[in-house]
Amino acid sequence: MICAVETSCDDTCAAVVTASGQVLANTVASQGLLHARYGGVVPEIAARRHLELIDDVVADALETAGTGLDRVDYLAVTQGPGLIGALLVGFAWAKAAATAHRRPLCPVDHLHGHVVASTLSAEPIEPPYVCLVASGGHTFLARVDDCSGYRILGQTLDDSAGEAFDKAGRMLGLGYPGGPAIDRLARGANSQAFDFPRSLPGSGLDFSFSGLKTALYYRLRDRPDEIDASADLAASYQRAIVDVLCARLRSAIVSERVDRVALGGGVAANSELRLRARAVCDELSTSLWVPPVELCTDNAAMIAAAARFLAPIEYPDYLGLDATARLADAGRAVNMSTHA
Ligand code: KG4
Ligand code: ZN
Repeated sequence: MICAVETSCDDTCAAVVTASGQVLANTVASQGLLHARYGGVVPEIAARRHLELIDDVVADALETAGTGLDRVDYLAVTQGPGLIGALLVGFAWAKAAATAHRRPLCPVDHLHGHVVASTLSAEPIEPPYVCLVASGGHTFLARVDDCSGYRILGQTLDDSAGEAFDKAGRMLGLGYPGGPAIDRLARGANSQAFDFPRSLPGSGLDFSFSGLKTALYYRLRDRPDEIDASADLAASYQRAIVDVLCARLRSAIVSERVDRVALGGGVAANSELRLRARAVCDELSTSLWVPPVELCTDNAAMIAAAARFLAPIEYPDYLGLDATARLADAGRAVNMSTHA
């Protein structure tokens, strides 16, 4: 059994997962409402709130799983990337708890968690596969040949898909986070009503979403009356994001010659992306794994999922490790997943 902690952004998360991938507990204390009034996550507030919540969140996960820290095989914790203040709370907490209970500790790359979330299914995905991760902080395509790591095939050159949703949500007065609100508003609306750019930079598998956001900004500045048609605007804007994600996903399936695909990250909760990715995979005779929403958005079960494929570090060797805001800062820290 692994007890994992995740505090890279604004959700305080703890989970207990067995070595075979059974999720015994997956507790998430969302800080969404706390940050909503600022229109986005305030790093200092997130860190302080993690500190207030973490003891109770881990206690809840352990109680739900009917276990204790003395009985888990090891602890796992997100090392990065993310907001450094937020990460430090979880990382310091995990080091202290692992020390107190003389457990090994496994530092995990948050993105590795998103990439292997589909291994927690009753019918787990097996390599080789391609994973499209679209979240608030990241958007990339990865190839997995071995679940202990992944290779980035292409990534966003500017904003993430989640940021594109959140910024549009703000412009349309839908609050934060914008993704779920746009998803709801777009349902049943006309996605052909407005023309938005689809950017496919370069000849590889990279993404770019900043032009799309700017196009919406100018549209609303020049024709503020169009905010009255916000359902059609939301649907058209969402379609542009999903078109780009699915175009790159299709290219990746073809160029990587895989017949298994997974989605991950908060944007994978989007209803249109789920439908359209399914259509792309059906057309290419590829099997698609879409985790349940609670394993798409940030959670600690996916951190435990990644830790299952990594060797934990024995006490006291992990005491010298630290959290890192960007993976590159880690200088490929011990146990960090392999990046191309
Ligand atoms: O993976 P996640 O929980 O956190 C990060 O690692 O960033 O992703 C959060 C992002 C936010 O941008 C949010 O707007 C987006 O996921 N999101 C959605 C939906 N649910 C969450 N975007 C589109 N449609 C949704 N249904
Ligand atoms: Zn995430």
